[in-house]
Amino acid sequence: MLSSKLPNLGTTIFTIMSKMAQDEGAINLSQGFPGFGADPVLLELVAKYTKENYNQYAPMSGIPALQEVLASKTHLCQGYLPDMESEVTIVSGATEAIFCAITAVVQEGDEVIVLEPAYDSYDPAITLNKGISVYVPLNVGDFSVDWQKVKDAITSNTKAIIVNTPHNPSGFVWSASDVNQLAELIQDREIYVISDEVYEHITFDEKKHISIGSHPELRAKTFVCGSFGKTFHVTGWKIGYCIAPKDLSKEFRKVHQYVTFSTVTPIQFALAEYLKVPDRYLSIPDFYQKKRDFFAKGLAETKLGFIPSTGSFFQLASYGHLTDISDWELAERMTRKLKVACIPISVFYSDKKDDKIIRFCFAKEEKELELALERLRKLESIL
Ligand SMILES: Cc1ncc(COP(=O)(O)O)c(C=O)c1O
Repeated sequence: MLSSKLPNLGTTIFTIMSKMAQDEGAINLSQGFPGFGADPVLLELVAKYTKENYNQYAPMSGIPALQEVLASKTHLCQGYLPDMESEVTIVSGATEAIFCAITAVVQEGDEVIVLEPAYDSYDPAITLNKGISVYVPLNVGDFSVDWQKVKDAITSNTKAIIVNTPHNPSGFVWSASDVNQLAELIQDREIYVISDEVYEHITFDEKKHISIGSHPELRAKTFVCGSFGKTFHVTGWKIGYCIAPKDLSKEFRKVHQYVTFSTVTPIQFALAEYLKVPDRYLSIPDFYQKKRDFFAKGLAETKLGFIPSTGSFFQLASYGHLTDISDWELAERMTRKLKVACIPISVFYSDKKDDKIIRFCFAKEEKELELALERLRKLESIL
């Protein structure tokens, strides 16, 4: 019998809820993927590069044209210019970036601070590398960071901290003060930062995403992990990147080299051309703000409680004032009876803490959101 390296892992909640949504014919606001198509210009570019036979292995760290345009984007959006050759690596999705960064850094017995609720790929990568996840809870409510708790969690064994802004599942976006507090806490220590910034272009209400890489001191110890899939509504393409200083990128690439070696070639060429027009990513916040506003307006007409999301394409909603049932139970009932699927956020906690909060993905067409909201107005009928 094979002894499992991840004995506590089952099927992810996203697979479970998406399947349930499909079986029940429910509107799927559970899994985080857009319900609309990508820009036809981008699709045409992919078609062009596949037809022109850009179909063999790309260079291990990415095609230079994409590394270059990504470095320029970082300069434009975050005010620093990474070296395209030695500091920018193109990978097969942010999940790969996070895995390679954790693997590059974590040795047996190292502690890694994880702020929770947390995206589910962090802990398995830490565990596979024989590290120890040390969980620090975010403030229930707005899910801001409690810096005193982070400070208290740091020990001489702390090797890394994983941060995520804009945050999944809460939508919380870090302020400059959060970035400065992190810098202060880990200055003079050999603690690395793995910064999951896949929702970098999805922020609202004039809030701006501040990359951890934009802080000069933090930059020296940070792996910034991004996802083109999230930015351009093509999550199925699984293409992302890691920006890290030369010495960190060198170790990162040693892992990446033997995880995937390189990333899908024609899509790299297509993105390199597409990203030359900054408006294609600078217009994303406005695009999603309309969806956030529409969904929040409709949600205000339901009995659910919420603070409007400030980033990502997720909206949390609380229901503890309506019923005592678990968030799992509510998510299941909503899927089967109301025909709207969501995610119970207890799954984002290591101890499955139930704050009576559920998560909706609003990256959907307005008519789909409208129908979901109409059903959510009848929530009390299933409680
Ligand atoms: C916070 C967070 N990080 C990483 C990922 C994975 O990104 P990718 O699809 O590029 O691997 C997701 C996808 O849902 C996410 O929500």
